[in-house]
Amino acid sequence: MKKILAGVVIGICVLLLAGYLFVSLGGMPVATKGPPLPLEKYLARKALHAAMDREVGKPSPLPADEPNFLAGAHVYQAQCAVCHGRLGQPESAIAKGMFPHPPQLLPPKKGVTDDLVGETYWKVKNGIRLTGMPGYVDSLTDAELWQVSLLLLHADKLPESVRPILRK
Ligand code: HEC
Repeated sequence: MKKILAGVVIGICVLLLAGYLFVSLGGMPVATKGPPLPLEKYLARKALHAAMDREVGKPSPLPADEPNFLAGAHVYQAQCAVCHGRLGQPESAIAKGMFPHPPQLLPPKKGVTDDLVGETYWKVKNGIRLTGMPGYVDSLTDAELWQVSLLLLHADKLPESVRPILRK
């Protein structure tokens, strides 16, 4: 029994030491060009879903209509386009240089048109830690959070009046 216990303790120490050496000898990628670590994407996604899945089922309290798309487009253009792209324009230098890469959310990309609107709302409100995705809970009103989320849900079928705002 004692031998097993000693084995477990030594095993844990070796793992901790290996982890420390991996980081301190520069094994951990820190440049944005570096590849993701093994399991990094899986664990980050798992943690995000564990945190938000209970809350994302809520429907939008605002309707998906033209006035809300227009308001959402103004929010998008001012706050989001620098990372998530403008309609018909190439990716910004900021977007190109970030890790993880901010997904382009306007057509021809699919963006989040197939996500629940509550999931997009959650991400915009709370942000995603250690990714560069800001949380807007302190800088946008609740209505604006829903408006920009509705805009992104319908990004592939927006009325003609909304599109010029997304090109700016
Ligand atoms: C400084 C850059 C930056 C800004 C500004 C920014 N985002 Fe993001 N956003 C990111 C990054 C990076 C990710 C990817 C996070 C990840 O990989 O988990 C992201 C992820 C997202 C996602 C999840 C996409 C998916 O496929 O699941 C949504 C939705 C989103 N952002 C919406 C917005 C909205 C709306 C705004 C403006 C109100 C905004 N973002 C502003 C960097 C940014």
